[in-house]
Amino acid sequence: MLRSHTCGELRAAHVGQEVTLVGWIDTVRDHGGLRFIDLRDRYGRTQVTLSPDSIDVNSLESLRSEQVLQVVGRVETRPDGMKNPRLETGEIELIGTTASILGDCPPLPFDFSRGDQVNDELRFQYRFLDMRRAEVQKRFQLRSDLQHEIRNYLHQRRFIDLETPMLTKSTPEGARDFLVPSRLNPGELYALPQSPQIFKQLFMVAGFDRYMQIVRCFRDEDLRADRQPEFTQLDLEMACVEEDDIMELLEGLMAHVVQALTGKQVETPFRRICYEDAQLRYSSDSPDLRSDLEIFELSDLALEMGFKVFSGAVEAGGAVRAIRVPGGGEWSRKEIESLEAIVKNQGAGGLAWMKRSDQGLAGPVARFCENEAGAALVERSGMEVGDLCYFVADASKRIVINSLSFLRKELANRLGHLKPGALEFCWVTEFPLFDEDEESGLPVPCHHPFTSPNPEDLERLESAPLSVRARAYDLVLNGFEVGGGSIRIHQRDLQERVFEAIGLSHEEAQSKFSFLLEALKYGAPPHGGIALGIDRLVMILAGDESIREVIAFPKTQRGTCLLTGAPTGVSDAQLDEVGLQLAPIDEPDAEPNEGENC
Ligand code: AMO
Ligand code: AMP
Repeated sequence: MLRSHTCGELRAAHVGQEVTLVGWIDTVRDHGGLRFIDLRDRYGRTQVTLSPDSIDVNSLESLRSEQVLQVVGRVETRPDGMKNPRLETGEIELIGTTASILGDCPPLPFDFSRGDQVNDELRFQYRFLDMRRAEVQKRFQLRSDLQHEIRNYLHQRRFIDLETPMLTKSTPEGARDFLVPSRLNPGELYALPQSPQIFKQLFMVAGFDRYMQIVRCFRDEDLRADRQPEFTQLDLEMACVEEDDIMELLEGLMAHVVQALTGKQVETPFRRICYEDAQLRYSSDSPDLRSDLEIFELSDLALEMGFKVFSGAVEAGGAVRAIRVPGGGEWSRKEIESLEAIVKNQGAGGLAWMKRSDQGLAGPVARFCENEAGAALVERSGMEVGDLCYFVADASKRIVINSLSFLRKELANRLGHLKPGALEFCWVTEFPLFDEDEESGLPVPCHHPFTSPNPEDLERLESAPLSVRARAYDLVLNGFEVGGGSIRIHQRDLQERVFEAIGLSHEEAQSKFSFLLEALKYGAPPHGGIALGIDRLVMILAGDESIREVIAFPKTQRGTCLLTGAPTGVSDAQLDEVGLQLAPIDEPDAEPNEGENC
């Protein structure tokens, strides 16, 4: 080895020993030829002293940050007053006798000490430097530890780790596929998996009983802070289970990993909220329960209140909903109205409000609360003296829900409900089986087409498909969907009925999914599973705001890699080999603004 110890290892017990360290130069201080160096590696930092009396200084003239330096020397106790109790190696220093630069380094493209303030584009272009920072290394250690704990926990429970193909046939998970041309089959393409969904179901038919895989998935969709085109799932499937079995397993797994990684206790079982309730009370299908702010329905009372904005919205088929803000009655009018922009951004016409003080009700809605309906409103809101209530009305229920969703988030933030380090898990259950496709009007699966309908609703599969509930569940943490799964269809005839309900003809279903339909014929056990977004989980546990921070080499919002420059053009010869010709592409109209690129 080129070193005898790491830079985080030496203690008082090593004093007197001859050792060799290799590390990056974190800082150099020159005291008239006597140089103090902080030598750093993944394990820590050690102070190295290079004195002109004991070392050939000529060979070491230009010491700079981030050069790789090898130092041979003796471990000594630091003089009194020079000890650093904040550093694990703070009691000792290494007095160098020989030193050499093993890897030179030019001046850096960005300042290490400024850490996260550095421009993101530069950071990701030089990600190999960015990842040298201790706080970044901590995130990846956490990620590695998480995967280790997950595997341990599941292997102890007889899960088997199995792999599935990357070059495969499209699996519908609601996004576009990334396609890969085939040289050996010109004109034909593989799809990269959006998830291993069908393969894991085939494992159940094969009798593997409990499958797990930590697997890369690929989805060509619009990107945002919690979405990357390639991301990692913990994928699970179990035979002979129902919803409760999977939820219980996941609760145990989450409690275990949180305890192992953060030392925190997570209360189980997690709260369960049905989809309808989540939409109404939290305006979200992934509610952030770090805040107890709740939304309530007013559409029924709105017609009687005499406020045209409200009754008009309901008469037009929309809704009126409100949110109570405990203590918000103390806010100034200016403060209260400053939140209007949030709902206007979502398309709402305005943000009405009312506060309650010792003197009674005040604000634009107060005068409509003098009748019976108004009294019922006040009662329903649970408003107390000192509280504020916000109201959103719109002819589109979607606009009301979206507006209140953003408003609730902002209020939770302002009220200090989103405490760093808090972890609030919940399950969202009873999702509808289908959404209505805006263009075709056809039902489209909310989850994926292999999700079992709720048996109680099965008779409506053809007559009222949008009213059928699914046996699906999402795991939500701090307002992020960290996992989704379902009990699957294991009967061939039911699977064919669902394909038909989403408008797939018998022939289309055969051409896309014959292998699944075939497998379901040959003794398929009841089964179900779930997949967790590992990147999202690590992001939350690390306290980050974007999954990019916990992915070693992430893509920008435009799907590009700042480090390698991918995607790039390829040579005509490569295209010829796979039988492809590129159509001319229109240049995009404008360059994105600075920063938007990430
Ligand atoms: P689903 O599509 O809900 O389910 O995905 C499971 C989880 O994966 C994460 N996730 C993502 N993370 C980062 N970037 C993305 N683009 C992205 N898309 C999804 C989310 C999500 O909850 N086969 C089913 C699972 C099953 O039914 O068992 C599936 O993939 O955290
Ligand atoms: P106006 O009738 O325009 O004077 O509005 C009276 C109050 O209702 C103001 O506080 C507006 O912000 C609010 N308001 C207007 N449109 C809406 C709406 N669609 N939903 C909720 N409040 C609204």
